[in-house]
Amino acid sequence: MVTDTRTLFTLVRGLPRKGGLADRLGAFYGPQAHHYDDFRERLLHGRDELVSLLPVRRGGVIVEMGGGTGRNVERFGPRLARLKSVHVVDLCRPLLEIARQRAARLPKLLVHEGDAGTWRAPEPVDAIYFSYSLTMMPDWRAALDNAIGQLKPGGTLGVVDFYVSAERAEDGLRQHTAWTRAFWPRWFGHDGVRLSPEPLACLRSRLDTIVLAEHFGSVPWLPCLRVPYYIFVGRLPARAAPGRFAGRRAARL
Ligand SMILES: C[S@@+](CC[C@H](N)C(=O)[O-])C[C@H]1O[C@@H](n2cnc3c(N)ncnc32)[C@H](O)[C@@H]1O
Repeated sequence: MVTDTRTLFTLVRGLPRKGGLADRLGAFYGPQAHHYDDFRERLLHGRDELVSLLPVRRGGVIVEMGGGTGRNVERFGPRLARLKSVHVVDLCRPLLEIARQRAARLPKLLVHEGDAGTWRAPEPVDAIYFSYSLTMMPDWRAALDNAIGQLKPGGTLGVVDFYVSAERAEDGLRQHTAWTRAFWPRWFGHDGVRLSPEPLACLRSRLDTIVLAEHFGSVPWLPCLRVPYYIFVGRLPARAAPGRFAGRRAARL
């Protein structure tokens, strides 16, 4: 309860509007860093499912962009032993500090301070995932481009995140009410989290969909409300070898 109060206070205060992104994220997450994992376990749904859907081959390399405290790496459970490494990339120093403490227990976890829009893995990558981080990235298109551009041919990209549907949802997708489409972007926008239909549309256009699930999740302290989120897992089409995306970016996004 006391720890929730501190987290709720920083959420109500919101993401600072001035300064560079890394400093703003540090100011926002710093005061709640030690309670981040506990609170987000009740807010950021579907992370176990996303990680369970990622392919884990012996000696494989996986990257989490915007991985924060590295908590999601624990979700691999015994499968982690098969992997060569899981790289966690983030811009927020207070959360990275928690991730480094975690890495002391989990040698496969490698922690990097970097921007998801530009950070490059030091080795070929089998799968990249974004867990509630794309919506926090001002240039999420650059982050997706950067991720897709460094996947091995046939590599996997996974995303779990909040979203809202378009006013007229694409065929086969859920249609959210006008209230849902107006309320949640405003509610989360205060904390720098931008809910929109665009990232999911972009993922579907650039990757072969393997799994797409749309859900509503509970929100701590708001018992009557449910926020929409999706889980997407896609594969790089065989025809689209890494590097060829760069030239097609403007046309495809
Ligand atoms: C809501 S948190 C999610 C953290 C973690 N993935 C999880 O599931 O708990 C969003 C994360 O994205 C990070 N982030 C935002 N913009 C970023 C960027 N451009 N590059 C790297 N990380 C970024 C934030 O610092 C934060 O750790």
